[in-house]
Amino acid sequence: MSRVLHRAGGMPPVAVSGEGVMLRLADGREVIDGSGGAAVACLGHGNARVAAAIGRQAAKLAYAHTGFFTSEPAEALADLILEGAPGGLSHAWFCSSGSEGTEAAVKLARQYFVEIGQPARTRFIARRQSYHGNTLGALAAGGNMARRVVYEPILAEAFSHVSPCFAYRFQNEGESDAAYVDRLAAELEAEFARLGPETVAGFIAEPVVGATAGCVPALAGYFERVRAICDRHGALLILDEVMCGMGRTGSLHAWEQEGVAPDIQIVAKGLGGGYQPIGGILIGARIVAGIAAGSGAFLHGHTYQAHPVACAGALEVQRIIREDGLLANVRAMGARLEAALTDRFGNHAHVGDIRGRGLFQAIELVADRAAKRVFDPELKLHERVKRAALERGLAVYPMGGTIDGRRGDHVLIAPPYIVTAAEIDTIVDRLGAAVDAALAEL
Ligand SMILES: Cc1ncc(COP(=O)(O)O)c(C=O)c1O
Repeated sequence: MSRVLHRAGGMPPVAVSGEGVMLRLADGREVIDGSGGAAVACLGHGNARVAAAIGRQAAKLAYAHTGFFTSEPAEALADLILEGAPGGLSHAWFCSSGSEGTEAAVKLARQYFVEIGQPARTRFIARRQSYHGNTLGALAAGGNMARRVVYEPILAEAFSHVSPCFAYRFQNEGESDAAYVDRLAAELEAEFARLGPETVAGFIAEPVVGATAGCVPALAGYFERVRAICDRHGALLILDEVMCGMGRTGSLHAWEQEGVAPDIQIVAKGLGGGYQPIGGILIGARIVAGIAAGSGAFLHGHTYQAHPVACAGALEVQRIIREDGLLANVRAMGARLEAALTDRFGNHAHVGDIRGRGLFQAIELVADRAAKRVFDPELKLHERVKRAALERGLAVYPMGGTIDGRRGDHVLIAPPYIVTAAEIDTIVDRLGAAVDAALAEL
């Protein structure tokens, strides 16, 4: 009997080791990690350089309290990822997960406005069908209805939600891209007006929505409109790149492809590639200056923030991404993945949409392509695909509730940045067989 309270209920297979894109299970099976878990394992598994860097740091200095000390790896990691102050982001604050990053982003935004003499700013606007983490603050910010529902009565009311930019599902028939973006901008404006613009501290969004809706990029111009609205009302733009960031979409930051930069950016998964639990926020210079001119310190912290071993692991991951030119591989293999998915599923009767950026792609499954009709949620098609894929030696990341937390099924594919063309082809082959097998069960 296992004494671990497992995430999905029941006893999952035991993963014992990994090498490159492969995971090995205790029963001898080999599985291709086609989604790096939840788009985490950006370097794949068993990277000896990262393991050695972690070991060296653990032996040298595993822990020193950040209330008293900084550490060499934390300083070096911040220097590396903020080299050239991308988009005006000048400082980093490290924690142990994406959820902690969201909490920190929200608290920093709130403190910033108190420090600069705008204490009325207590509200945050976020979007439906997005996810910002599972701690209570981050869950309140998120719009993943399935994950919120049980906890709704204890979630903070400081957050409200507007529509996502999700063209496949919510762009009207005959509505141009520009008109759809106009409609969303007007909705956001109306939400600022409803709340009172002087009460809004920030707008939070994932540049490419990850697991909740299945790799949904915004339409061109959307984030520029959002940035302009935030600026006009003096609110901060907080971009959650926990899943889509640190190279996953082919640029180091997903926002680089949107023509805007955030005031605060949340990062996590690809930062440490799963070798260490690490997340963080990247912070715009004016926010740092506002705090410095006020109380002088961020009124927030965790025992394990900027953990030296976690930072050493992430530092090595980030060095390898740069030294091995892996972003070029993300772009090349991302194009290959998109082409292979289009080839396999472009005419599939039950695949309504293929979308994403770089090595961050998803297919959306539908009962009827023309009507975009979903399968009955009770069938739990996404779980069937997950099972059928695993039986074929492939781990991908299927989810249900694509549209509203209940309806819709999608499968997210996010292989490591080191993936080869042959491995992409195998992933898509096995996914094709798994989807067909899952559909045949219905
Ligand atoms: C966009 C986004 N934000 C935040 C989180 C929360 O990160 P964590 O699970 O590390 O707390 C996730 C996790 O899936 C995520 O995808």
